[in-house]
Amino acid sequence: MIIWQTDSIAAQFIVEYAAGTSFDSSKKAMTANVNVNQLRLGVKSTLLYRSALSRLKFDQEYVYRVLRNGEEITRRSFRTRTKKPQTRFAIFGDCGARSSQQAKISWLVYQQHPDFVLVTGDNVYNSGREQEYRRNFFPYYTAPSADTLIGSPIMKTIPFYMLVGNHDIYSADLTKYPDGLAYFYYNDLPLNAAMPNETLVVKGPADRVDAFRQAVKPRFPRMTHFSFDHGNVHIACLDANTYVNPLDPAIIDWLAKDLGNSKADWKIVAYHQPGFNSSKAHYDYQLMRLLSPALEQLGVDLVLTGHVHNYQRSFPLTFEPKKDSTGSQYLISKEGRVDGKFTLDQEFDGSTKTKPKGIIYIVTGAGGASLYDKELSAKPFMWKHEPQDNWVPFTAKMISDIHSFTMIETNSKTLSLKQIDAKSQVIDSITITK
Ligand SMILES: [Fe+2]
Repeated sequence: MIIWQTDSIAAQFIVEYAAGTSFDSSKKAMTANVNVNQLRLGVKSTLLYRSALSRLKFDQEYVYRVLRNGEEITRRSFRTRTKKPQTRFAIFGDCGARSSQQAKISWLVYQQHPDFVLVTGDNVYNSGREQEYRRNFFPYYTAPSADTLIGSPIMKTIPFYMLVGNHDIYSADLTKYPDGLAYFYYNDLPLNAAMPNETLVVKGPADRVDAFRQAVKPRFPRMTHFSFDHGNVHIACLDANTYVNPLDPAIIDWLAKDLGNSKADWKIVAYHQPGFNSSKAHYDYQLMRLLSPALEQLGVDLVLTGHVHNYQRSFPLTFEPKKDSTGSQYLISKEGRVDGKFTLDQEFDGSTKTKPKGIIYIVTGAGGASLYDKELSAKPFMWKHEPQDNWVPFTAKMISDIHSFTMIETNSKTLSLKQIDAKSQVIDSITITK
């Protein structure tokens, strides 16, 4: 899906695409349908165009171009998904803050030539508005060229998947933010998950809410949960915002089918708010720990999160949340703490011992916004110390004094994870095998 936006003056757009890296006159280019929606954002009106490139083959390079009133305004190429048992992708979160570090990370990710990018939420600051995407997000990922100070055209050439973080939904009241919830304008994610019982609620004057719903249907509210495959990796993406019940039966049932039926070598789950975090920031919000037993049962290898603006990797672990005296209800404190029993695999070192017993939880929230708890970087003795039913030394690595992103590469039954910082240095590296 190619998505672009213009002012309110309509133009005639044509999208053409062809196999290969150039429009060869001997081959006929295909033409994609173009749909347009008028976005009514309070006093402002703008046009949002979407064009789905259909009948694409796996493992193939394609070139596309966009023509406005007959004149070519964009030409790029991209590669489709592979069916081979391998993939290579980049992950970062908490990025759209209009910072020089965000530009650097975008540029570095582009240099890696990943197959796709996954952003672990808080895509834009502060509230997920249309004007914030235009100022704080797109200039960095749809730059005309790659430049360490500006960013890169990564979003024009590589599929982008974005989770929904807390900042992305702060503008759900359209009274205050007529251009709110822009996440639903700019994404086109698989609508393949169950509808949760509790969903995000959009508020505001009826005409604004109607205009929003018209422009984004059927993506709102269900698009915040989805899953997809790339090569031999299956990724289930969840919404972990406060309006969601992590144990929503609709989502648990969907996950059981989605992950249970997957034949992928590697099963990954991604959501914004981490359950296992040894930083000071956001320590108390641990609701996603409730999902650990289900994810362990479903054979999940890795969990990718953001929210905390640094990098953390846990030891492989299993977690049993504590229940009340009747044994029927999980205990959750009013701050969101979830106590329980941890079992850590401290023998796993990712180099000589590569078969983890348990799930490895990653926080990769250092994609551009101001870093959290810099003083804790690589100093385990300073990491959180709380009663052992709430915290044990589950964090194997924390780097919080430099921005960074994650690269994951799979090849059959081997997965390698590298954390690369804004100076292009590898600050963490593990290999997992089956
Ligand atoms: Fe967040």
